[in-house]
Amino acid sequence: MIKTTGEIPEQADVATIKIASLAPRADFPILQREMNGKPLVFLDSAASSQKPTQVLDAMTIFAQEHYANIHRGVYALSEEATAAYERARKLVARFINARHAREVIFTRNTTEGINLVARTWADANLHAGDVILLTEMEHHSNIVPWQLAAARTGARLVYAPITDAGELDLDAFDRLVESERPKLVAITQMSNVLGTLPPVEAIIPKAHAVGALVLLDGAQSVPHIPVDVRTLDCDFLAFSGHKMLGPTGSVCSGDARSCSMPCRRFWVAAI
Ligand SMILES: Cc1ncc(COP(=O)(O)O)c(C=O)c1O
Repeated sequence: MIKTTGEIPEQADVATIKIASLAPRADFPILQREMNGKPLVFLDSAASSQKPTQVLDAMTIFAQEHYANIHRGVYALSEEATAAYERARKLVARFINARHAREVIFTRNTTEGINLVARTWADANLHAGDVILLTEMEHHSNIVPWQLAAARTGARLVYAPITDAGELDLDAFDRLVESERPKLVAITQMSNVLGTLPPVEAIIPKAHAVGALVLLDGAQSVPHIPVDVRTLDCDFLAFSGHKMLGPTGSVCSGDARSCSMPCRRFWVAAI
C-alpha cells in the first residue's frame, strides 16, 4: 500500500526527495525477479530504462489522487492535474537550463521529437537544394525524419564521415560546413553505437556562422551528462525521459506558441 500525503510536492520539495540509494538494485522492483534461475540483470537501459520505486510511486499517486484531463477542465481536480503537468514542464526546463518552460514540448520519444522538428521547422523553412548535414554516426531516428523531409522539400542530405577510431572527422565536418553551407546540422551529442561524443560545443558556433540551425539528438547524452541548452546555444534538443528512469508512452502535448512554426528554438522532452 502506498502511503501518500495527498499533496503534489512543490519544486523545493522535489529537490529534496531522496533518489540516491546505496543499494540501487533495491530501488527497482523488476530486479527482484529471477530469469533463467538467476537474479535479473538488465543491460538494455540505453534503449529504455527500468523504473525505480520512486518513479512508480509518483505515477501511482498521480493516478490515484490527482488524475484528470489537463488544460481542458474547469473544475478543481483538472486544475490540480494541469498544475502538476505544468510543474513537470518547468522542472524539465530547469534541468536543461531552458530560458522558458514554454520552450519544452512533451512527445512520446526522441524519434517523435525529431519528427516534430522535421514536420514543422523543416517543412516551413527548407527548399529545393538546401542541405541538411548529418553524420555517419547518427541513430536512424536522426536520419529517417530528414530523408522524409528531403523528399518533401527537395533538400539534400550530406553525411560527415567518422574516423577509424569512431570519432567525428572534424576536419571533414568543417570542410562540409564551409562548402555545403547547410541550413540544418542534425547531430548526436553521444553516439549510441560508439559511445563517442562529437565536440558539439565547437560544432554549434561553426554551423551558426554559416546560418545553419543545429538540432542535437540528446537521447544518450541527456541521461548521462549535464546538458545546458543556453551554454550550448543549440536550436533544438530531443531526448527521452523513458531512457532516464521516466515513464513510457505518456501523453504527448505541445505548447501552442512553440508549435506555431517557424520558431527559433525548442527542446523536445519525451516523458
Ligand atoms: C542516439 C539515439 N537517438 C535516438 C534514439 C531513439 O530514441 P527513442 O526510442 O526514445 O525514440 C535512440 C534510441 O536508442 C538513440 O540511442
